[in-house]
Amino acid sequence: MCGIIGYIGQKKSVPILMEGLSKLEYRGYDSAGLCVLEKKHLKTIKNKGRIAELAKNLELAELAATMGIAHTRWATHGEPNTKNAHPHLDCHEKIAIVHNGIVENYQELKQVLIKEGHQIKSDTDSEIIAHLIEKFYQGDLEQALVHALALIEGAFGLAVIHQDEQKIVVARRGSPLIIGVGQGEMFVASDVPAILAHTKKVIYLNDNEIAIIKEDNYQIKKLTGEKVDKQIHEIKWTVDQMAKQGYKHFMLKEIFEQPNVLVNTLRGRIKDGRVKLSVDFDLKKIKRIMIVACGTSWHSALIGKHLLESIAGISTEVDYASEFRYRNPIIRETDLVIVISQSGETADTLAALKEAKDKGAKTLGIVNVVGSTITREVDSGIYLHVGPEIGVASTKAFTSQVLALSLLAYYIWQETGHQLDEKILQELQTLPKKISQALESDQEIIKLAKQFKDAKNFLYLGRGFNFPVALEGALKLKEISYIHAEGYPAAEIKHGPIALIDQAMPVVFIATKSNLSQKIISNIAEVKARNGVVIAIVNSDDQVIKKLADYVIEVPATLEEFSPVINVIPLQLLAYHIADLKDLDVDKPRNLAKSVTVE
Ligand code: AGP
Repeated sequence: MCGIIGYIGQKKSVPILMEGLSKLEYRGYDSAGLCVLEKKHLKTIKNKGRIAELAKNLELAELAATMGIAHTRWATHGEPNTKNAHPHLDCHEKIAIVHNGIVENYQELKQVLIKEGHQIKSDTDSEIIAHLIEKFYQGDLEQALVHALALIEGAFGLAVIHQDEQKIVVARRGSPLIIGVGQGEMFVASDVPAILAHTKKVIYLNDNEIAIIKEDNYQIKKLTGEKVDKQIHEIKWTVDQMAKQGYKHFMLKEIFEQPNVLVNTLRGRIKDGRVKLSVDFDLKKIKRIMIVACGTSWHSALIGKHLLESIAGISTEVDYASEFRYRNPIIRETDLVIVISQSGETADTLAALKEAKDKGAKTLGIVNVVGSTITREVDSGIYLHVGPEIGVASTKAFTSQVLALSLLAYYIWQETGHQLDEKILQELQTLPKKISQALESDQEIIKLAKQFKDAKNFLYLGRGFNFPVALEGALKLKEISYIHAEGYPAAEIKHGPIALIDQAMPVVFIATKSNLSQKIISNIAEVKARNGVVIAIVNSDDQVIKKLADYVIEVPATLEEFSPVINVIPLQLLAYHIADLKDLDVDKPRNLAKSVTVE
């Protein structure tokens, strides 16, 4: 997704803007640019490609400007090129804007502006915002922006500057924007990493809010004009947490930090044989649960279904958020809709949440990013507390989501008058340590990665609680190694996929102990009978599958309902090492973004 950073203060703005852009690279982008107020004129430098390209522009070093805005673009309208890169300017180059989001009615607005004599230079929807501000500008940038935004349909997180005004004006509707509060300086950004090196004090703008930011003060209002008082949040994440801490990639760091950070997901939530969650509505009135999410979060939702039905005895449905929002779902006031999202900003998930709220459901968010939009829209929430997940491929957020869903299932069972089995809660708390043990197979997995990195296709198979793990293993592999991979319920292969089996396509079975172990053994035999190559994730004491499979990766045993968070570990590592051996951009895979804030 696009990234925004802005600065106003006493220091040279260019180094701060460039450093902020580099911290936003992980979001995925195809071009970058900045605009600063230099000697009372706007100076814009932008280009297609990486920030490193932008940094080669020698003009940057000559700029002494202390105010500016900058942007990394992930194209939605208009191909990636320099003219479509942000910032965009008005006709007289007195106004510059950077914009995240989509102006849904930009074509009609563009026609009106062209008729009024505006020269639109780019193919983007964003540029028309600069011309609309120009149209309404009569000496007050804030008022001109308010009038311009009144005409816009769609989402925006934007920052604007005018050559005659020593301020940055920002506004948001549907695309995140934060203000960083410094000493005699202020920052704006699309998310925390861009400014964390300068301040830990941030303010999260809500939808339809505008902020006027000067170097030593700020004012926040609703777009309708009423002043708004906002809480200043103290960010707990250190800059160091953002750094890779010695790992080659953020993704590898995040895989290996799971044992430590998952302790934070459980911290304070299991005490004296009870689960402690703060759910601000009466769970006894809930008759049905619907879970909506995207991507990896949808995989944890599928595991959540198993957990909530088997542990809490409550009927649970799972939907892709992008499907849920358009299928006019039947929702009752006794329904609980759970939205799962690492970023808390995924557009489809946000829209599904709105649909659920409009239809009267109770809502609960399972989210990692504190203060993100979803967390401010739901009735209740469970934060993951696993720290920033920078790698585009989600790893620790997935395992944390599954733990949070386990806690929720036990909490519901407890709150509906049932006694929890202390032994089960104790086993839940051993999982971070067992994940540590699973990580010890890293060297084994590197060998497998070397052997199979040139395969063109993979098949991942699992059953019950581990069918979603098969889906997740396949997604990990395809999104960072670009190798085609499919996840399937193991029993389903006889309904078609078994036709694919040959020696060129490794078949990964999640085959740890379960009440379906005998069935999995039959499925492995079916694949072997057709000369398939089987890689099996097994428990250490499983002699039967070790004989059947061509390769095995051993993981510690646990209760079947807890096995996904352990069984996924070797699959995360396999995907990582294959992608790394192929020398691919593991943290920023092609075409992908960390947070998909557009439809
Ligand atoms: C997972 O590895 C992907 N990066 C992607 O599927 C991601 O899970 C999806 O976009 C949902 O993101 P969210 O959890 O932030 O809502």
